Amino acid sequence: MRMETKILIGITGFFAILLLVGWVALNETGRMSEFTSQYEARSTERGATIFESNCASCHGLQGQGSGRAPALNNPRLFDGARLTEVGWTGTLFDYVANAVAAGRPNSGAYWPQAMPTWGEEFGGPLRPDQVQDVTRFVLNWETAALDEANPPTVVQDFIFPGIRGEGDLQIMASGTPVGTNVQAILAALPPGDAARGETLYTANELGCSSCHLSGAVAPDTVGSFSRAQDRIATVPALQGYTVDQYLVESIVQPNAYLVPNEGNRIFSTNGISIMQQDYSARIDLQDLADLVAFLKTEG
Ligand code: HEC
Ligand code: HEC
Repeated sequence: MRMETKILIGITGFFAILLLVGWVALNETGRMSEFTSQYEARSTERGATIFESNCASCHGLQGQGSGRAPALNNPRLFDGARLTEVGWTGTLFDYVANAVAAGRPNSGAYWPQAMPTWGEEFGGPLRPDQVQDVTRFVLNWETAALDEANPPTVVQDFIFPGIRGEGDLQIMASGTPVGTNVQAILAALPPGDAARGETLYTANELGCSSCHLSGAVAPDTVGSFSRAQDRIATVPALQGYTVDQYLVESIVQPNAYLVPNEGNRIFSTNGISIMQQDYSARIDLQDLADLVAFLKTEG
């Protein structure tokens, strides 16, 4: 055979093999992506079961949030606003998986209970693959959350933790927490400044309005004063209370008198209000006087 023929056969053979390999490879990506999407669909399904039994009690069955935890089926989680707010530069998947695995051990300071730790590696009950499953389930809300024509119901948005100390709106300016002794507080309560009270009430540090505004997950701010009067007049246990006494007690001892649940609006479970239990340790007398003065303007 002539040298040129051999080279020609060699080159042709080479390209034939290249084509074959390319064809197999192309097909393989197709099979792989089909495999991946099936895998992800099953993972999301498993995640739904995990969510229902472990997360829905706080985050709501539809991820709408409750007084115990923020909404996850929440436009702000998916449009980047939340990630910017907390300064996260990684992917959303990693953000959610990380929050689930590590929990938020300190969030009990501004929520009724802290977000628990779920990942095995942090001492929680879920294996890494289960953390991924439930993360996929949460991310599966993206389309619904970003559907502007039909936005999901967000019962409770994220609350930003107060950074105590400088710039803290002078909450606890005197540094002495008010405590829980209602009679002692009433005897010492200074005159209140309703305008400052409103600022405290709406500030992230205390988060009062995040639950109470428009009655989101708690009795509406509007009507606080008249409701206090009504309750004193009608609830035997509150007989003889003054409005100040009722409001002070509501803040420093949330479980002393529990506003009854209203249908599926759950204000308390097993005698424990969903309202933060630690305001008595986070505000001073002046803060409390100002909050009470503000609430008394909400007739
Ligand atoms: C006891 C109530 C409770 C349970 C149960 C709970 N969470 Fe949470 N979760 C919270 C609270 C409170 C926060 C807000 C923490 C914060 O602001 O730092 C939170 C925050 C989160 C966040 C981060 C949201 C953000 O941007 O701050 C994710 C994601 C999350 N939870 C997912 C889950 C999943 C998934 C489960 C179930 C495996 C679950 N949670 C179970 C209370 C709960
Ligand atoms: C996590 C949600 C939440 C936050 C934050 C919260 N509350 Fe509440 N609050 C509730 C719920 C739920 C009730 C009703 C159940 C009960 O009696 O405690 C309530 C009850 C009250 C009442 C009695 C209302 C009535 O109709 O009789 C007052 C007053 C009140 N809160 C003031 C405050 C103030 C002031 C702050 C901030 C310092 C605050 N709350 C923060 C959830 C919250």
